[in-house]
Amino acid sequence: MTIFLCIIAFFSDLIIADKLNLAKRDFEGKISYTDFENTACGINTNDKYVCAVSGDIFNKTSLCNSLIQVDYGLNSVNVTVVDSCEDCNYNDLTLSQAAFQVLADLSAGVINGTWNFVPTSPSQ
Ligand SMILES: *[C@@H]1O[C@H](CO)[C@@H](O)[C@H](O)[C@H]1NC(C)=O
Ligand SMILES: *[C@@H]1O[C@H](CO)[C@@H](O)[C@H](O)[C@H]1NC(C)=O
Ligand SMILES: *[C@@H]1O[C@H](CO)[C@@H](O)[C@H](O)[C@H]1NC(C)=O
Repeated sequence: MTIFLCIIAFFSDLIIADKLNLAKRDFEGKISYTDFENTACGINTNDKYVCAVSGDIFNKTSLCNSLIQVDYGLNSVNVTVVDSCEDCNYNDLTLSQAAFQVLADLSAGVINGTWNFVPTSPSQ
């Protein structure tokens, strides 16, 4: 009986922990990579850590230079928003190759990751 109750307690802790984690990571979507040319923010590079967010998110406000942290398993990379991604679903991101390679091998193609905006230090 005691063991049984311990097991129940263990699993309810897991469920609570899972709910907290879900609350913390706001976005969960497909992470891909692409070439960054003629971007909306005027930054064209495949070597820097940059990303494009879905048009729905990008159009809400001027997101140029916003910082996003993307997590995939134990790997994380911070990327700067430089474009909108017309092929992305709401929660998807597309990254520069340099940034994608921090998370996974390019041969993975598309991965499921989690991400969120991180505050940037105020400029000037
Ligand atoms: C975002 O705004 C651009 C420019 O106004 C427009 O062409 C595009 O269709 C919009 N995308 C979405 C998903 O609203
Ligand atoms: C991303 O930036 C935030 C805020 O500066 C920082 O706390 C975090 O460690 C950075 N993450 C990575 C993976 O560099
Ligand atoms: C990624 O997420 C989608 C949608 O939730 C799912 O169908 C797919 O199996 C996932 N892929 C991997 C590799 O986990």
